[in-house]
Amino acid sequence: MTIKCKSLLFLLPLSMVFSQCHTTKNTADTTAPPAAQGPQLPPPPKPSVLYVPTEANVSGTNTLAELTEGRRLVEVKCTNCHKLYPASRYPADRWASIVRNMQRRAETTDEKISDADSELILKYLSAEKI
Ligand code: HEC
Repeated sequence: MTIKCKSLLFLLPLSMVFSQCHTTKNTADTTAPPAAQGPQLPPPPKPSVLYVPTEANVSGTNTLAELTEGRRLVEVKCTNCHKLYPASRYPADRWASIVRNMQRRAETTDEKISDADSELILKYLSAEKI
């Protein structure tokens, strides 16, 4: 009996400590506004300069799947030599000659741009509504 009581007394403060921890944590999680943690967090990633294609960019000459793949290819193929240029930088009819020029430049490197990839890249770059 004595042993049992002692062990219970020993447990009482422990359980209080645990419940306190729990309460403190919960309060911090729910009441602290995200902005208050701002200085400790790394800066949020910069949004890509590449527009995300939607049905609004689809026309008779492309599909949403082609535009989405074109966007991926621009990220992969068009960043080897310089930063990304947004599609809105040039009017649609300027992109054909630029992409051809870049494809020719890539010929001399290990990261060539195939005709099929160029076509999807061009579809993506010339489909932004500006
Ligand atoms: C092999 C290297 C290389 C790759 C790959 C490359 N570029 Fe370029 N790009 C250049 C160089 C060098 C210039 C600057 C000289 C020039 O304008 O030709 C340039 C310039 C540009 C310009 C500016 C042109 C101007 O008239 O101001 C655009 C836009 C551009 N690149 C888009 C692209 C796109 C889109 C792709 C992917 C299809 C791409 N680049 C891939 C090397 C590359």
